[in-house]
Amino acid sequence: CGIVGYIGDKNAAPILLNGLKKLEYRGYDSAGVAILDDGDIKVIKCKGRLVNLEEKVDNDTPGGKIGIGHTRWATHGEPNDLNSHPHISNSGKIAVVHNGIIENYLELKEFLEAEGYKFVSETDTEVVAHLIDYHYHGDVVQAVINSINEIEGSYALGVLCRDYPGKFVAARKDSPLVVGLGKGENFIASDIPAILEYTRDVYILEDKEIVLLSDKEVKIFNNYGLAVQKKVFKVNWDVASAEKAGYEHFMMKEMCEEPKVIRDTVSPRIKDDNIVLDNIKITADDLKNIGKIYIVACGTAYHAGVVGKYIIEKLARIPVEVDVASEFRYRDPLICDRDMVIIISQSGETIDTLFALRESKKKGARVLSIVNVVGSSIARESDDVLYTWAGPEIAVASTKAYNTQLSALYLVALDFAYKLGRIEKDYYSNVIEGLKAIPGEIEKVLANRDTIQKFASQHYNAKSIFFIGRGLDYALSMEGSLKLKEISYIHSEAYAGGELKHGTIALIEEGTLVICPMTQDNLVEKMISNIKEVKARGAVVLAIAKESNKQVCKAADVVVTIPDVDSLIAPIVAVTPLQLFAYYMALQKGCDVDKPRNLAKSVTVE
Ligand code: G6P
Repeated sequence: CGIVGYIGDKNAAPILLNGLKKLEYRGYDSAGVAILDDGDIKVIKCKGRLVNLEEKVDNDTPGGKIGIGHTRWATHGEPNDLNSHPHISNSGKIAVVHNGIIENYLELKEFLEAEGYKFVSETDTEVVAHLIDYHYHGDVVQAVINSINEIEGSYALGVLCRDYPGKFVAARKDSPLVVGLGKGENFIASDIPAILEYTRDVYILEDKEIVLLSDKEVKIFNNYGLAVQKKVFKVNWDVASAEKAGYEHFMMKEMCEEPKVIRDTVSPRIKDDNIVLDNIKITADDLKNIGKIYIVACGTAYHAGVVGKYIIEKLARIPVEVDVASEFRYRDPLICDRDMVIIISQSGETIDTLFALRESKKKGARVLSIVNVVGSSIARESDDVLYTWAGPEIAVASTKAYNTQLSALYLVALDFAYKLGRIEKDYYSNVIEGLKAIPGEIEKVLANRDTIQKFASQHYNAKSIFFIGRGLDYALSMEGSLKLKEISYIHSEAYAGGELKHGTIALIEEGTLVICPMTQDNLVEKMISNIKEVKARGAVVLAIAKESNKQVCKAADVVVTIPDVDSLIAPIVAVTPLQLFAYYMALQKGCDVDKPRNLAKSVTVE
């Protein structure tokens, strides 16, 4: 979900709607605003996309200069008008927007019902509105403090109080929230893009901090009510990088940015032909003592982790396990203080990933995170951070962030391997040169996207599509398949080429589409055999292969070529055609490419 809040000398409604538009990628089941005007809180909210809310606000624009807004990704209660935020207490005194999940809401609900509160929605959030109302005896900050001390779970909250015409309150725990500092106006937002148009100076709130905002002042307290001093964080990316810049979709814009963001991620870490990983002080001795590396992440970041496992094991010869965060955090993993955990996250806020990090630290492991959003929870709680300089990624389906996550993992693998003496200087230098050349290679792939577009226009009615690959191409296949299902809603699965015979081949029939990335030189022959096997059963095969791989043209129906890069680093280049394929398939099907159904960019609830 997304939150925005405003207080200042302008009308709040248009500023809130504008902010919500920038946050729509965080959830789009329903949306709403609450505006404080003339001693009254007015709530306007409705089901569906933000345009519905815009229409409602246009027909009945409230005039107040303080307000909070929300765009929802439903957890408790289906997306409908009643369940959408803001929620307001029965007295009409307190209005609340909330991201996160209140875990003890049933218990609190029973208590509040016994106190006479009437619930109108099925949400956990409504509990917060009534609870603050219950604790309110003239001091809204104290009421919020008392409430959050009783709440279990995660929250980012924006709170309006009818008795406070010149102020509003916000608080957070395990769900991101920033305060934007303007001149004569101040803001809150769950993500920076919502307020970037108005200010670049922000406070990044820590867990259990409470903020009281007026137009001229921002006061921060801890949950004991004591004042907290914070440093202003300056956002260094610009508004344009969070806008479409003439592209039809953010996703296409973000794919086109891949060359730049890979360069931004790799170049500053190469000094005099050596890898220098920011302030990460991991010595050869530290590395020798590492028992195992665990890579933990969700979604696309997890798929980057699978590539990470292959390359760290191959180059540094350290055993690596890769886990999805939601499994890792609950399986009592066998980590100890000799182990290292690499956490990967674009947003730095995915709740399962954050808790996997905390679990790792509790068990004594050293945590290195690969994160895109500067100052995010995961970045702040890790021992070491390696930022991916992908810039803001708005399309829900991750593209450029994945390429930069891979780039960062290659830097880590090479650095560790070289420090441990497991690779020769020449090889190390050659791979570094290869990484430096990747942006140029992706430019070529992007320039040749016609073949993929044409293929998509012929096959977008497919009901089911299989991705098969071997080695690093298997890891890549998983990401290609995820991208396709996320945005085109076509059923798809990824298989290791060698596993085909153990079941999947039974699903291949006349016309079934099979996508085969085959960038691993030592496995090309094996993949050609796989292609022959599926073609013999009627499949239509699209292969992604290196230019020099002439044999594949005879085997596959259509070949999309990538430049001849070293097989080791090929995934960073070969993922782009797979992303393009998903994009064009979704476009042909008329899907909402940037905001696929049921998904959200940043999953801050379990
Ligand atoms: C969501 C997004 C995915 C993303 C995953 C992990 O499911 O829709 O695109 O890969 O979360 O997000 P993170 O921000 O931790 O990389």
